[in-house]
Amino acid sequence: VAYAPTTTTRTAPRRPRDDDVNTLRLGLIGVGYWGPHYARLAAELGETQLVAACDISQDAIELIRTRYPGVRTSRDPADVIEANDVDAVIVSTPTSTHYTLSLAALEHGKHVLCEKPLAMTTGECDELIAAADRAGLVLSVGHTFIFNPGIRMMRELIADGEVGRVLYCHTIRTGLGPIRTDVNALWDLAPHDLSILFYLIDSNPVAALATGQAFLRKGFEDVAFLHVDFESGAMGAAHVSWLDPHKVRRVTVVGDRRMIVFDDVEPVEKVKVFDRGASYEATSDEGRGADFEYFKALIRDGDIYAPKVPGTEPLRVQLAHFADCCLHGAVPEADGASARRVVSLLETATASLRAGGMPMPLEPAPLGR
Ligand SMILES: NC(=O)c1ccc[n+]([C@@H]2O[C@H](COP(=O)([O-])OP(=O)(O)OC[C@H]3O[C@@H](n4cnc5c(N)ncnc54)[C@H](O)[C@@H]3O)[C@@H](O)[C@H]2O)c1
Repeated sequence: VAYAPTTTTRTAPRRPRDDDVNTLRLGLIGVGYWGPHYARLAAELGETQLVAACDISQDAIELIRTRYPGVRTSRDPADVIEANDVDAVIVSTPTSTHYTLSLAALEHGKHVLCEKPLAMTTGECDELIAAADRAGLVLSVGHTFIFNPGIRMMRELIADGEVGRVLYCHTIRTGLGPIRTDVNALWDLAPHDLSILFYLIDSNPVAALATGQAFLRKGFEDVAFLHVDFESGAMGAAHVSWLDPHKVRRVTVVGDRRMIVFDDVEPVEKVKVFDRGASYEATSDEGRGADFEYFKALIRDGDIYAPKVPGTEPLRVQLAHFADCCLHGAVPEADGASARRVVSLLETATASLRAGGMPMPLEPAPLGR
């Protein structure tokens, strides 16, 4: 359902902005599977208050009514977007609605936190970025994994030189469902993997390719394999599927010194550092600088350790950070530019997928998260 501006007068209670500048008054659009997590966190966090929620489904609205009787509910997004007592809008609806709802919210002077992917084209991302810039509003995207303490630890370990030069990063995001009807598995799942690749590999992507198959419904790939080449020579790869018996959420980084694995399904030891590697060494002094046959592969099979990862909920960190950006001017870590970068790569990957997996060069883009 597209956003349609209302013609009726809104009766939302007005509250002057400076009566409590330390509280971010939130409006939530979309209360399906993911939206209720935002509602819960908005109630738990000290700086946020959920004042209005909207979903086109009456059942979804009932959930808010029951759990949060003080929150205004509606089936019309305009009731959230145009409300005078809403400072920021969270868009947690299907991907195909993100652009229209986010643009309308920005045009009505609301900060926006939109779920991933921000939009369906880079052109739409550009329009949203421009609208936010024009109005001096925060535009942020739900790249939740860059707020995940395990992924943050991986980034620190890489920055500290623990893994050495990053050779490749491989992610798996598979399971059985949820099956989307508006986008394929690549657009639904890979935004997370791409945001992780961009967060961990400090280099520009230069080319991408993707393969995939639509087994359940024509035109909507259920499984995809995505490859990204980086300027540094590092390789990124992501396997996404909503048609797989195993729920896997794993990120592997292989460096020339050590290897790190993040396993989000693992209850305790989510990050493991493997003091493992392999190299080709000369078998003798005479062999150095000589032909390859004088070299032999050496495997280093060292210790494995699991650093303690804080148990903080990533979405809580993401929402608290968004509130900090809106209330205190912090710079968004998952901003419009990073959202555009992900969408741009998805567009290129889609072109490759439609061309049978042909590698495609990427437009140069400034480094971001
Ligand atoms: N960051 C994460 O880890 C994460 C996890 C799950 C989902 N998501 C994202 O969250 C979004 C929602 O996913 P979900 O799993 O909750 O989907 P869902 O289908 O369970 O829920 C979507 C809800 O939006 C409502 N809706 C649809 N169009 C609407 C409109 N125009 N106005 C108001 N309500 C509308 C539907 O009735 C439904 O209740 C998606 O963008 C998805 O990619 C992110």
